[in-house]
Amino acid sequence: MKRLKQHAIWGQRGSFILAATGSAVGLGNIWKFPYITGENGGGAFVLMYLVCIALIGIPIMMAEIMLGRRGRANPATTMLNISQELGVSRLWSVIGWMGVLAGFLILSYYTVIAGWTLEYFERATHGSFRGLNGDTSNALFSEFLADPTRLIFWQSLFMAMTVLVLAFGVNKGLETAIRWMMPLLFVLLIVLLGYAYSSGEFATSLRFMFSFNPEDLSWEAALVALGHAFFTLSLGMGAIMAYGSYMPSTASIGKTVIVVACLDTLVALMAGVAIFAFVFATPGISPSSGPGLMFVTLPVAFGNMAVGTIVGAAFFLMVILAAWSSTISILEPAVAYVTERFGLHRITACVLIGATAWALGLGSVLSFNHWADVQILWGKNFFDSMDFISTNMLLPLGGFLIAIYVGWVMTREQAEHEFRHDSVGLLKVWRFVLRYLSPIAVLAVLINGIFPLLTTVFSE
Ligand code: TRP
Repeated sequence: MKRLKQHAIWGQRGSFILAATGSAVGLGNIWKFPYITGENGGGAFVLMYLVCIALIGIPIMMAEIMLGRRGRANPATTMLNISQELGVSRLWSVIGWMGVLAGFLILSYYTVIAGWTLEYFERATHGSFRGLNGDTSNALFSEFLADPTRLIFWQSLFMAMTVLVLAFGVNKGLETAIRWMMPLLFVLLIVLLGYAYSSGEFATSLRFMFSFNPEDLSWEAALVALGHAFFTLSLGMGAIMAYGSYMPSTASIGKTVIVVACLDTLVALMAGVAIFAFVFATPGISPSSGPGLMFVTLPVAFGNMAVGTIVGAAFFLMVILAAWSSTISILEPAVAYVTERFGLHRITACVLIGATAWALGLGSVLSFNHWADVQILWGKNFFDSMDFISTNMLLPLGGFLIAIYVGWVMTREQAEHEFRHDSVGLLKVWRFVLRYLSPIAVLAVLINGIFPLLTTVFSE
């Protein structure tokens, strides 16, 4: 197999788990999961999300890592190389291409929201949450969103941070940072949960998140749950494939994936329970308040804690780190592609791609103020449209193609070659689910979730 450049390998044991967890755990868990749960009715949505993680997320994650480790290159080249080796169409490299596109769109708006966490970290360190209530916190947030200059400043800084780490390469920057970040994040979430237990509406929150109302089930919510399962596990665009390509051949893929998926889900559920406990304890805030949920509720909680300044600052710092280890993984596939394919210097590639995604991100910045009423897709503003196209369409489509490729195009032997260290039973279940359940479930949700939207457009 032709390799254009020597590809990096994670240096220390456990680095893959940490890096994959770092990629998976991010704004998706702490910021997005609670607000989409709030918008989609609570318990029923949580259930659909858990089913998607188990039936679709875990098997596809195993497939993606397997492909990456086998190809040992960036996603597009990996798909091309493996397809040539198997003697199947080169068109399958479209999986890599779509991934680069999806990553690009996601990075553009992800850095905007990540920028908000920088602003809120600064506010926390200045003690500006003290004495906040629901209304004043809401006002503070709206005032921030109305100021595109500030949003752009933080967005730019976050993009620069992402480019910086990647410019340093995989091992030095990324690997070192995540080794202490992830454990600390867990400790902080437990502290937050403890506080929510003692001072928030904890029982109401649990009831909201875990009581199941069949009438809350809908295809639209299922589509959001499916998209989020991909988003939160960083699947469907080659990020995990790229990380898998740095994975030593001796590590067991199945066990690793289960650990990563469980940690990721745990963080999301903990963040959700804590945030809703504060939502229900704070008058003037509703669970369905959208993207601002975390930024409005938590400051109120921190502002009324005895040591709120420290806990608040530490919390937002952790969110920054979680988001940072995610943006890195979103940008990495495109950077790996450009450097390996065109021989561009790594630094040039990072700056070039980062700058383009930054420019696209300006549209998302404006959709929170000047362009708030500008609709791009189905009544969605620019930010929501970027999110919808990438998360709810491109990622599931990428995942579907990966499932078909690994389940049907590759033979059993070819597919299982990289799983030497996994149990036979696990592999049996994996292959069955990947061949039948995952693709059918993804298609069913995609068709039923997107079709009604299309028909509303044509009937207008
Ligand atoms: N999983 C991350 C989160 O939940 C976001 C992310 C990182 C991502 N890499 C990705 C999403 C690749 C989609 C594809 O915040």
